[in-house]
Amino acid sequence: MATPASLLKLIEDGVIDRVLSPLKSGKEADMYVVAKDDVAYAAKVYKKREQRSFRNNAAYRDGRSVRNTRSARAMEKGTRFGKQVAEDAWQKAEAEALRSLHSAGVRVPQVYAHHEGVLVMELIVDALGRPAPQLAQVKPTAAEADALYDQLLGQVVLMLMNDVVHGDFSPYNVLVSAEGPVVIDLPQVVSASHNLKACVLVERDVQSVARYLGIYSPTVRRLSREAWQIWHQHEKGTLVPEFRPAPPPEPPPPDPAVVAAQRALADAGPGEVMDLVREARRERDGPRGRGRGGRGRGEEARRDEPPAGRPRPAA
Ligand SMILES: Nc1ncnc2c1ncn2[C@@H]1O[C@H](COP(=O)(O)OP(=O)(O)O)[C@@H](O)[C@H]1O
Ligand SMILES: [Mg+2]
Repeated sequence: MATPASLLKLIEDGVIDRVLSPLKSGKEADMYVVAKDDVAYAAKVYKKREQRSFRNNAAYRDGRSVRNTRSARAMEKGTRFGKQVAEDAWQKAEAEALRSLHSAGVRVPQVYAHHEGVLVMELIVDALGRPAPQLAQVKPTAAEADALYDQLLGQVVLMLMNDVVHGDFSPYNVLVSAEGPVVIDLPQVVSASHNLKACVLVERDVQSVARYLGIYSPTVRRLSREAWQIWHQHEKGTLVPEFRPAPPPEPPPPDPAVVAAQRALADAGPGEVMDLVREARRERDGPRGRGRGGRGRGEEARRDEPPAGRPRPAA
């Protein structure tokens, strides 16, 4: 991969010393490992608007304001200048969100510089110092999945307490570092208080990681049904960093009669199953089909052949 012009510009301007290696080519950006003063950083080089996917769309723009009215008008009209303004706002949103969330204690990479359309940030690494894997590449044990889910809910809660909804939270946008999960990729963040769909986006965010972790843990599958409580607490104004949704009520214990019947059916050979069904019907309906639709039913019951090997009832 040839070094993009924007990274050469960063070297020229002394922001970084050199490019160490390409890291990943994503949907919205190309990632590189770069170095400054012998420290490695991740550099996110945003793709040109035309090469990008759908994400800069209305659902996310809702509630984002551009202060300058000339810019706002141009954005609305979709002029070339307007598109450039939208593009700058998109990139700036990620750097700003990372900065404010990092200082609020959310586990996101620390920003080092945002220069010439390149975001230079802390390189998230695994225990061996290699770039950390995406959550989607990790196969956790059930206990690890439970811990990851709990830690990630904690991040969603903290973000919400800072009026931020990620909007594209997924197993691809969480890196698993040696110290735990780190949230990345935030250009599409929305304001919880200004975006009308924020409530839906929070739920979708949580379910996106719950679906993945739920593959490994039934507890996550169960707990994730109650994720709505996070927004509920937020709306009541009672959300605190430690808040976790209460687990759903345990299902009632199974009816012992049903369990016994299931066991009998499981033990029965193929021929005996119908016997058991007939016996159960007779027990339920009585010899004349009482309690199950009167005469018609009773006649039908009488037509039933008695099970093989049992005496015919006297006429
Ligand atoms: N700070 C970082 N440290 C290590 N790897 C990173 C970092 N930021 C991004 N990556 C890697 O690059 C990939 C793409 O980055 P991301 O911000 O998600 O961009 P995209 O919008 O293209 O998905 C990530 O999935 C991750 O593997
Ligand atoms: Mg991504």
